[in-house]
Amino acid sequence: MNEKKLWWKDGIIYQIYPRSFQDTNADGIGDLTGIIQHLDYLQELGIDGIWLSPITPSPDVDFGYDVSDYHTIDPKFGNLQDFDRLLSEAHKRDIHIIMDLVLNHTSDQHRWFQESRMSRGNPYHDWYLWRDPAPGGGAPNNWKSIFGGPGWEFDEKLGQYYFHMFNKHQPDLNWRNPDVRATMLDIFRYWLDKGVDGFRLDVFNAWYKDADLRDNPRLPGIHLRPFDSYKHIYDVSQPEMIPALQDIRKILDAYPNRYVVGETFLADSAQARIYIGEDRLHAGFDYGYANTPFSAKAFGKAIQFWDSLHGENAWPNYFLNNHDTPRSSSRYAGPNDDAKLKLLAAMHLTVRGTPYLYYGEEIGMRDVSLSRGQIQDPVGKRYWPFNKGRDGCRSPMQWDAHPFAGFSTAEPWLPVHPNYKVRNIANQAVTAASLLNFYKSLIALRRQHPALYAGNLSLIDTGEDALLVYKRFTSEETMLVVLNFSKSIQSYTLPVAEFNHWDLIFTGNDPITSHMTDSNLDLPPYGVAILLSQAA
Ligand code: GLC
Ligand code: CA
Repeated sequence: MNEKKLWWKDGIIYQIYPRSFQDTNADGIGDLTGIIQHLDYLQELGIDGIWLSPITPSPDVDFGYDVSDYHTIDPKFGNLQDFDRLLSEAHKRDIHIIMDLVLNHTSDQHRWFQESRMSRGNPYHDWYLWRDPAPGGGAPNNWKSIFGGPGWEFDEKLGQYYFHMFNKHQPDLNWRNPDVRATMLDIFRYWLDKGVDGFRLDVFNAWYKDADLRDNPRLPGIHLRPFDSYKHIYDVSQPEMIPALQDIRKILDAYPNRYVVGETFLADSAQARIYIGEDRLHAGFDYGYANTPFSAKAFGKAIQFWDSLHGENAWPNYFLNNHDTPRSSSRYAGPNDDAKLKLLAAMHLTVRGTPYLYYGEEIGMRDVSLSRGQIQDPVGKRYWPFNKGRDGCRSPMQWDAHPFAGFSTAEPWLPVHPNYKVRNIANQAVTAASLLNFYKSLIALRRQHPALYAGNLSLIDTGEDALLVYKRFTSEETMLVVLNFSKSIQSYTLPVAEFNHWDLIFTGNDPITSHMTDSNLDLPPYGVAILLSQAA
């Protein structure tokens, strides 16, 4: 099959949290030069794109998600020349670069906000959501911050409040101001002109708020976070978002092969789907799959739902990990047991859609556990010990058994996981049955087979609770994926009526292999089998 591959659709996207990937100047913080050093590794792994968490300047209240300048590189990561080098070195290896754009809010250190708080008459004043106190005094409405406390912060000098959905050092922009909107759209052009291949839009459906800033309705019950006591109908998902995405898509479509993926915020899957389409986002993230319990039935349901929501006209994507959520390894598996992780990898890399991987997922890095004093994330600082924040999944990449896991020669910004001497890339690269080698062979298989990277999906009901089975197919080939979610051996009767012969082409590089006859397949605990049909 000679159809042209489309990198963001047929490929695999790998998220890098730049602070934690590779430090090259001994400041304990990863940098762009560090990423360039590992492009060969990423190419060998077989990925097609990198999503970089923000690399623009930031005072790091929210580690890059509070931007103080949209047009350059934070000096702690390097400079624009380093970025050009990263782009050209990545492109040489057919790796595409996706930037994270945080356009809902800026840092309070951004020049625009500094100007905006100078006076009510300042030209930038209206770039943010400033409001007078409510008639009786106090906050202008009942909106809260998801990071804790009220959404409104009072400024003594101006006698007004500004709104922040996140930390008070992350004031929300006023997208209803035409200059703000135009400036935001120019940011896309700026990075596209530099050669960036795509964007990940941070909490994009929060950009527009209700024009009259109406109160959100209260929900019954008691919630730890005041934010959760309201139904969020006026502070997110406003109708103005669709035309904004359409304008963004028009900008992207003027350049070849560009991609935009969005992170919806507080939206259910159906709402997330609305933003995806030919004239809007190429793809959107949804937590449904990542939040699924470890069971064949539950994953079957999640995949079926997200897949059919996309239908023929859109292409799903899937993630199990990102920088905001505990690692799937820590959620689903014990500290030393990778069998379940192989099973999940086999599912993740064979469903219909673009798989996202998060750095270290390929070696099963586990979350670090931190003492209160080590917490860096504003969420953990605020909600300890009920919520320890998101630092756990952001620890330094474990390259080898050298001090600090080869991430740095200096003390890293977050501690390295104590398991790094055994669990690291160098070690897994030379261990035949490692998780890393499992990922590599599966990615290679996926790249070879149009049924896997471009085919349709149909779930097969086996009547067996422990098994998740689906077919992937194009007009030219059909593959069958059989996944055993249980800790016991499972038998599966192959659909031989429809296809007269199946070849077992992948069982993982585990020492235990599946036993197969013409009509039956036995899978070991957490076993994986991928089969290719020979046409009748
Ligand atoms: C997104 C990011 C998260 C950040 C928040 C505010 O959810 O993924 O890391 O804290 O937006 O920008
Ligand atoms: Ca550094």
